[in-house]
Amino acid sequence: MTALEAEVHARLEGLEADAFLARLDVVRADLVEALTVVYGDSAELLDALIADALDAAAARSVDLRRIDRRREVDPTWFLSQDLVGYVCYADRFAGDLGGVAKHVDYLAELGVGYLHLMPLLRPREGENDGGYAVADYDAVDPRLGTVADLEALAATLHERGISLCVDLVLNHTAQEHEWAQRALAGDPTYRDFYRFFPDRTEPDEYERTLHEVFPDMAPGSFTQLPGTGEWVWTTFHEFQWDLNWANPEVFRAMLGVLLRLANRGVDVVRLDAAPFLWKRKGTNCLNQPEAHRILQAIKALTRLAAPGLVLKAEAIVGPDQLVPYLGGHEHHRPECDLAYDNQLMVMLWNTLATRDARLARQALGRRTPPPAGTGWVTYVRCHDDIGWAVDDGDAWAVGLDPAAHRRFLVDFYAGSHPGSFARGARFGDNPETGDARTSGAAASLAGLDHALDSEEPDQVDAALRRLETLHAVVFSYGGIPLIYMGDELAQRNDDEWAADPAHSDDNRWLHRPRMDWAAAARRVRSDTVEGRAFAAMSRLVGARQASPSLRSDGSVTVLEVEPTSVLAYVRRHPRAEPLLVLANFSDRPAAVADEVLRRAGISAPVHVHSSVGTFEHVGASVHLPAWGFVWVRQSA
Ligand code: GLC
Repeated sequence: MTALEAEVHARLEGLEADAFLARLDVVRADLVEALTVVYGDSAELLDALIADALDAAAARSVDLRRIDRRREVDPTWFLSQDLVGYVCYADRFAGDLGGVAKHVDYLAELGVGYLHLMPLLRPREGENDGGYAVADYDAVDPRLGTVADLEALAATLHERGISLCVDLVLNHTAQEHEWAQRALAGDPTYRDFYRFFPDRTEPDEYERTLHEVFPDMAPGSFTQLPGTGEWVWTTFHEFQWDLNWANPEVFRAMLGVLLRLANRGVDVVRLDAAPFLWKRKGTNCLNQPEAHRILQAIKALTRLAAPGLVLKAEAIVGPDQLVPYLGGHEHHRPECDLAYDNQLMVMLWNTLATRDARLARQALGRRTPPPAGTGWVTYVRCHDDIGWAVDDGDAWAVGLDPAAHRRFLVDFYAGSHPGSFARGARFGDNPETGDARTSGAAASLAGLDHALDSEEPDQVDAALRRLETLHAVVFSYGGIPLIYMGDELAQRNDDEWAADPAHSDDNRWLHRPRMDWAAAARRVRSDTVEGRAFAAMSRLVGARQASPSLRSDGSVTVLEVEPTSVLAYVRRHPRAEPLLVLANFSDRPAAVADEVLRRAGISAPVHVHSSVGTFEHVGASVHLPAWGFVWVRQSA
């Protein structure tokens, strides 16, 4: 027996010790390779990290180990079609963590099996980028509760079969974090946790190729410190100091944070701003090979300590850069398990504005699927702005000038384009590049405010149809669909968003409203907007859960059809019948030639779900209403 084996057997009981050592055998090669690329060949570092993982494994509760066992038996549990997600701020949804526990029935009624609570660790006071400026990773925001409340909530959710997803901000801490404060006081250990520069020489060199994340609210990527006049790297706001991941002590400290979070009962960790971890002069400092290696090392160590834990990459990058976050490299290497399907979201809003699915077909049709055992999370809206990630090549391929088209989308969703039904706002205007992004709640972008003001019932119908069809795609395209809080009730923009001085320069708060529980109470009434939206969402959840071909580890094939307003794709899974989705992004009905069924492998069609409740197959055409969709599958 080696010294390590003896240690593992001393710390863990018989079978647990064997399992830990078996996992170590499985992950060791990937771990060693990743660490060596980033930090050089250091047996000392490797031993220290394995010891940290062993400590965490030994501290893991029996209940969590039981969950680990289940997930080791069924490692694709999170790819099941049963899983539907919900995303909210604990305070905006229910006051605090205890409040969330009291509203679990609401989530269960909706069929939610995965709850993402927006940042909940203790942030800095005042402006804190929606909680993404963390002052203490080991404390919960006192306004939301305590660590014990977090553990209790996780246990409550587990009892109801709901997994908990929590954010972990890897790229930066708040300047108020103890590490930053010690660095500021001159402690050399902690100075090495961040990236300081004595003058502008290096920041200027880097800024030649960096792009600004918040060009209007927080220009530049470096902040000058009062007193010493030094500069510190701040990709986001000046109060968010980028960590120096080239320092192995940063890796070790953040791994500790992650493992403690896992042991509190968190099932899925959203790794915030993952592409930014590694900096290299002459590049945009995104998606660097070392950033991937860091994530691979994190994956190996979490598999060791908490094998049931799922890692979700928040990498809002181009489609070609995204699959590597799921381990899709030249040789597959386990990295994150889930990643946001930003491209699908962008293409949906694009199609809604243009009423033309050709760009979506082009962009989605050429993508590399996620590697086996991994998947997307799909979404219509989230807490962030919509960045118009339209690839230049894709735009040209369908005859669009990319820059002009992106400007059109910004104008359309700001409501300033003639004929636009949307009521959003411009975000992140960059006067130098002319780029801008979009804020706004899904219902408002889909035209509900406009429709309610017009007092035309047809317009309200159209807006609700648009919202439903967007979700119908997100629920069927492949991946865990996430419902963004309030969208199940067609909740609109928060017009009071700027009243809070800590939010007033960030219009993303436009689409971060408080849950309107009075509106939620109207969900039982079919004559209300809320009732219609909620019923539509509930039907989608039910239809998805009853459709094994929608498992996230199935495949998707985009089909070319006429008219161009229709997005068509077929979902296949080896254990189920193929399922065809047709979604019409036009204010006019569409008739699609029924040979699309044959192309989808469907000879005996069965209606699964649709906006009107029937599969209208008349003559040689499938009929779709304006802004409507149908899901149809091959009979078993
Ligand atoms: C992520 C978050 C965003 C935040 C940023 C900085 O992109 O989604 O809200 O501003 O990271 O942490």
